[in-house]
Amino acid sequence: MTALDLSRPEVVAADLPAPASFFLGWDHIELWVGNARQAAQFLAAAFGFRVTDYAGPETGVTDRASYVLEQGSIRFVVTGAMGPHGDIARHVKSHGDGVHDLAVTVTDAAACYDAALARGAIGLRSPHVVSDGSGTIVAATVATYGDTQHTFVERAGYGGRFWPGYSDDDLPPEPVGPPVGLHRLDHCVGNVELGALDNWVDFYRSTLGFESLVHFDDDQISTEYSALMSTVVWDGSKVVLPINEPAHGKKRSQIQEYLDFYGSAGVQHLALRTDDIVAAVSALRARGVRFLRVPDAYYDDIRLRLASLELPWDDLQRLGILVDRDQDGYLLQIFSETITDRPTVFFEIIQREGAKGFGAGNFKALFEAIERQQDRRGNL
Ligand SMILES: [Fe+2]
Repeated sequence: MTALDLSRPEVVAADLPAPASFFLGWDHIELWVGNARQAAQFLAAAFGFRVTDYAGPETGVTDRASYVLEQGSIRFVVTGAMGPHGDIARHVKSHGDGVHDLAVTVTDAAACYDAALARGAIGLRSPHVVSDGSGTIVAATVATYGDTQHTFVERAGYGGRFWPGYSDDDLPPEPVGPPVGLHRLDHCVGNVELGALDNWVDFYRSTLGFESLVHFDDDQISTEYSALMSTVVWDGSKVVLPINEPAHGKKRSQIQEYLDFYGSAGVQHLALRTDDIVAAVSALRARGVRFLRVPDAYYDDIRLRLASLELPWDDLQRLGILVDRDQDGYLLQIFSETITDRPTVFFEIIQREGAKGFGAGNFKALFEAIERQQDRRGNL
């Protein structure tokens, strides 16, 4: 019997830097959809994104079609399957159109991945190199909640636009419409199953090296009917991930409605930042985007509560924009209706004037607006 070779030092998590220490910021958000051509057209026409790249059969990719959409530093990729087999078709069948990948740019994809796995993350794709004439990208992927994943993208060695294999030949024309002016991804919210919140907060803290930013209990986020709990984790810089779980109320929590229709945990909303929300929402409404309706009573109350703020109150009320204040300043926000047939994914538009919060003062008004929609769907 030969002795075990113990000469290779065991790598322990404590020896490795936290995965988050490699993060540079958001790289892209990939949605897997039933029809990428139409999803791209919708995001361009309704939300003012520009199609900047494409991969599909015409570029030598046979099993899928992907469109890259950009606005400010926000980059979405929408991808659809060419047939009934494979992960994309399965994802769409289970979840409907949904967010599959929350990809971050990192300084060293292999080191980030190794550190994540050493701390207990599940690896979905080990570090691999993709190249074309513009250089090289190194990418690696770990799992997070539901069928959602994080790809670590190291692109310092790449001078092309998005990714090897993409082309900007023959892109769809830019739809006509007023400019929207969204400039960055502010935060990305996940919904997880009842009882799972603490585990996922622990995953982001212990495994990826995030910090908790703020926690909201169900007594802070509840209406007459439904409740939820939420913890916001972040990488200490730009990657901000609130996570919600349903809580028991008189009726079905909106988070539970999401989970029932998405079929698992997943991304609920993406918050997109603008510097001029009145102009942005005016443009989005002109382009046909539908937002949750806010009752006039909300403005009767908030105009009194925040009377010291010099704001274009009539515009805010006309457009349905919500206002909240914290110790650092104020924020303006609005929520779209779901962008999918299933009551799952939606967008938030947000303007921050100092405030670092998430609109806690608006939670009740927001949830009551969502519940009115939920009731119309027969799901409350
Ligand atoms: Fe949000």
